[in-house]
Amino acid sequence: MSAAIEMRDHRLPPEQVPETVVEILPAAERARISARIRELLGQQGAVVVAHYYTDPDLQRLADETAGHVSDSLDMARFGHDSPARTLVVCGVRFMGETAKILNPEKRVLMPTLEAECSLDLGCPAAEFSAFCDQQPDRTVVVYANTSAAVKARADWMVTSSSAVEVVSFLRDRGEKILWAPDRYLGDYIQQQTGADMLLWQGACVVHEEFKGLELAELRAKHPGAKVLVHPESPASVIRQADVVASTTGIIRAARELDADTFIVATDNGIFYKLQQAVPGKTLIEAPTAGRSATCKSCAHCPWMAMNTLTRLQRTLETGANEILLDPAVIERAQRPIKRLLNFAGERRRTIYGAGDA
Ligand code: 13P
Ligand code: SF4
Repeated sequence: MSAAIEMRDHRLPPEQVPETVVEILPAAERARISARIRELLGQQGAVVVAHYYTDPDLQRLADETAGHVSDSLDMARFGHDSPARTLVVCGVRFMGETAKILNPEKRVLMPTLEAECSLDLGCPAAEFSAFCDQQPDRTVVVYANTSAAVKARADWMVTSSSAVEVVSFLRDRGEKILWAPDRYLGDYIQQQTGADMLLWQGACVVHEEFKGLELAELRAKHPGAKVLVHPESPASVIRQADVVASTTGIIRAARELDADTFIVATDNGIFYKLQQAVPGKTLIEAPTAGRSATCKSCAHCPWMAMNTLTRLQRTLETGANEILLDPAVIERAQRPIKRLLNFAGERRRTIYGAGDA
C-alpha cells in the first residue's frame, strides 16, 4: 500500500516566510524593560521558559528569575515540573501549546501568538488526519514542532533529542511508522534506525538553508574544527557532522569534544549559550544559502525573533497572548507527549542532548 502513496511537498513557500526582524534597543532601554519584567514576574508568580534561539536578554531573564532556557523536550519537562502558576513561554507557538497541554490548570502566556514554525504550518491538522486515516497499520509519530491538533492525532510525540531512541524502540516492537512533519529529520531517523518509515514532506526554513558544498569548503579552511549539526538540516550537511544532536546536545558536545573550533549548523541564537559554555573556544556559523541565493531566514528563525523584550513586557502587563486550547484536544494530545516524557524519564542518561547541557 505505501509504495503507491502520493506525498505532496509540504515545505512552506518563501512568500509565507516572514522577514527576520530583530528588536534593536539602546542598552539603557533594554535594562529598564528587563527590570520591569522581573518585577512583573515576581508579582504574578510567573516564570519564563525560553528556547535557545531567542533573544539573549530573554534567556538571561529566564536564568536570573528561576525560569529555564533549554531545548524543546526540556522546556516541556520544566513547564510540567515547575510549581509556577503562570508559564511565559518564549519560543514558538507549538512550545506554548505543549506547555498548556501538560499544564491545563496553569496560565500559559507568550510574547506573541504569531510566532509560528514552518514545520507546524506545513502540517495542517485536517490534511494530516485524513492521511493518517489512509495508513491504519502505521504508528503515528510526530515531531514536537506540530500543532496541538496534530499531536492529538498522534500515537507518539518526539523531539530531536529523543526521536532515534523512540523509533528504535518501536522498530524493535515490529511497528511501521508514519512520520511527520520534517523530511530531513525523518530521513536521518530512518537511516539511523532502519525502521519502515513513511515521511511527511515538511522542512524547517532555517535548517534547510545550510549547504553541504560550502560546508565542505569551510571545513577545508579549518581542518581541526569539529562540525555540530542539528538533524533538521539536509543530508549533505548531516553527512559531514561529527555530532548530530538537539540544541542541548550541541552545547554539550562543544563542552565534551576535544577541539578548539566548532562549525555549528543550527539557528545562530544558540551562540549566546554556546559561547558561555565554551568561553575559550572558537565558534563558526555553518554556511547558508550558497553564493548567489537570497534567503529570509538565514540561520535565524523569523518566528523566534518575534519574541522581543517589548512584547514580553506588554504580555505581562496586559495578560494578552494566552494559549487557550479545546479541553478535548488537550486530553487527546496529552497521551503522545506523556508517552515521550515517561520514555525519556526512564532512559534519561541515554537520550543524548536532553536535560541540562
Ligand atoms: P530542539 O528540540 O533541538 O531545541 O529543536 C527545536 C527546534 O525548533 C529546532 O529548530
Ligand atoms: Fe520551526 Fe525551524 Fe524555527 Fe525551529 S528554527 S521553530 S523548526 S522554523
